[in-house]
Parts: sequence; C-alpha cells; structure tokens
Amino acid sequence: LTPFPRPAIEAANSSSLALTHRPRRNRKAEWSRRLVRENVLTADDLIWPIFIIEGASGRQAIGSMPGVERLTITEAVKAAEQAAALRIPAIALFPNTDPSLRDESASEALNARNLICRAVREMKRAVPEVGIITDVALDPYTSHGHDGLMVGDRIVNDETVDVLVRQALLHAEAGADVIAPSDMMDGRVGAIRMALDANGFQDVQVMAYAAKYASAFYGPFRDAIGTNATLIGDKRTYQMDPANTDEALREVALDLEEGADMVMVKPGLPYLDIVQRVKETFAVPTFAYQVSGEYAMIEAAAANGWIDGERAMMESLLAFKRAGADGILTYFAPRVAEKLKA
Ligand code: PBG
Repeated sequence: LTPFPRPAIEAANSSSLALTHRPRRNRKAEWSRRLVRENVLTADDLIWPIFIIEGASGRQAIGSMPGVERLTITEAVKAAEQAAALRIPAIALFPNTDPSLRDESASEALNARNLICRAVREMKRAVPEVGIITDVALDPYTSHGHDGLMVGDRIVNDETVDVLVRQALLHAEAGADVIAPSDMMDGRVGAIRMALDANGFQDVQVMAYAAKYASAFYGPFRDAIGTNATLIGDKRTYQMDPANTDEALREVALDLEEGADMVMVKPGLPYLDIVQRVKETFAVPTFAYQVSGEYAMIEAAAANGWIDGERAMMESLLAFKRAGADGILTYFAPRVAEKLKA
C-alpha cells in the first residue's frame, strides 16, 4: 500500500502516531473478527479415518494414538451412526488384519469376506447416508508390511496393480462409495477406473493418494494396523521424496488424467505448500491427510501440558482450509465435529 498523504492532524494526545492504517482496528472485537474472517472449518470438511479389528464387540486402545481405538465391526457401525449425527460426510476404513492371515501375496486382500468387505456391508446397511472410503493397498495383508508385492528386495509395480484392481472391485461390490488407493504404484488409478467401469461401478468415486510422501509421521498408524514390527526396510522406492514439490504436481496430473475424482496430499501440516500448489494448479477437489504422527504430536504435547490441545487441534485444521484444502482426513474428526456443533 502506498502511504496515504495526510495532513498532520492534531492527535488526541501527543504520543499518538499519525497512522492511516491500523490493521488492529478490524481485530478489536469478536464480532468484527468474525465479520472479516476468511476461512471457516465446518463438519462438512471432515473425513474420519477409523481402524477395524476382528471380534464380537469391543474397542482396543492404540498406545501411540491416545483417544483413538481399533473398532470391531459392531463398534464401527456405531461410529457411522455417530458420524451421521455429527454431519461428518465420510469415514475412511483401515483394517488390522489378524497376523495369521498375512502372507507374501496378500491373499486376504482378495477374500470377499475379509474384515473390510464385511465392515463396509454392515456400515452401508445401517447408515447408508455416510460415505464409505476404502483403502486400496496391500500393507495390511502382506507379511512384509509393504503396500505392494515383493520379488527379492523389489516392490514390483505391474503385478501389484493387478492385485489392487481386484481388491478395489471387491470393495465396490461390498458397497464402498469411494476407492482410495494409497499404495503409490504407477498406473493404478487408471487400471482401477477402467475395471470399475467395466463392472458396472461407474458411480464409484476414486480418491487418489496422489502426492504421498515417504514420511516418518506414519509411525503410529503402523502400530494401529500392526505393520511396524514386520515392515522390512522402508517405502522410499514408491512413496515420494520429502524434498520434492514439482514431482507432486506430476503425480497429481497423472492421477487426474487416469480418472481420479479427488486427489489427496499426505502428510498434512508439513506439506501445506503442496496442498496449496495442487489446489492452485489443478482446481480439483483436493484433500489433505493429517496423519497419525501429526495427531500423536498434538496429543503428546497436550498431555504434558505443553500446549492447549483443543486450540492446537482447531488451529491445525483451519490451516488446511487456509491452504486451500476442500477437506481433511483427521483422527480428530468426531471431537472437532462435536465442538463445532456446540
Ligand atoms: C499405507 C497407508 C499408510 C497410511 C495410510 N495408508 C502408512 C504407510 O504408508 O506406511 C498412513 C496414515 C497415517 O499415518 O495416519 N497404505
């Protein structure tokens, strides 16, 4: 702003500065702050990730994610009811597969009666109005904890895509509304889109984990689904290098060309620059995943009394809106929605 030339006015008291612009004026009262506020977080922005475990009933605590539990299908149905009551649009499901069912070829991923397929059926039957998003990747099913098939020490791309396609079809048959491939294999979005269309699932959406980084912030999630202990090596031959930004745009462009309806950036807060660039460049529905490690950091600091956990939760989610995200996958979803309702 060019300074407005103003005559020296007789200030009310001699110590006042003759300022034309006082940005604080708009902040002087709550009503005014509300009036000039640029971004708002609502329940419509939330996707709630939940962990599913086998069992008749009950919940299981996750040490590294205080306040988050693994849910049996019965409890997952209750979560869907809770989401509906709180106007959370959608739930994303992640299974903790029984270790005895995990093998080299991820065969349990292709069992039409597996934990996820049964959970989807029950949840859609009980609460059809809540969107169900399923994770397509092999890590909950492989004995080595990788998202793809392993040959020697390599994660093989095209053979993995073949399994992912069949996994996606099973999810669609079970009633999933959105297929969300998180595996980062090349070409899987196009292959899944074609298979869905060829099998009458034209209306099933694809949310691509388009820019997913090889991140240290996934640790607590791997506890939750039980892959931390078994994971051999790391995921850097398929997940992205945290040093890169242009590459994220190329990944998003490919997934959109291949038919993705929505794209996601992951992790969240440390990658807000990517969220902003993706949204500005492509102007498509763009989501961010506030991952398990981000959740755990806020919870741990709050538990120690080092930060105000409630305020950090709200501020972190508003930051995603400011960066241009259309929605956020967050373990805080039910707590935030409850708070927004109040
Ligand atoms: C793997 C997958 C991961 C997450 C979602 N899907 C972890 C990984 O890539 O190892 C992480 C989510 C989180 O940390 O909250 N398919």
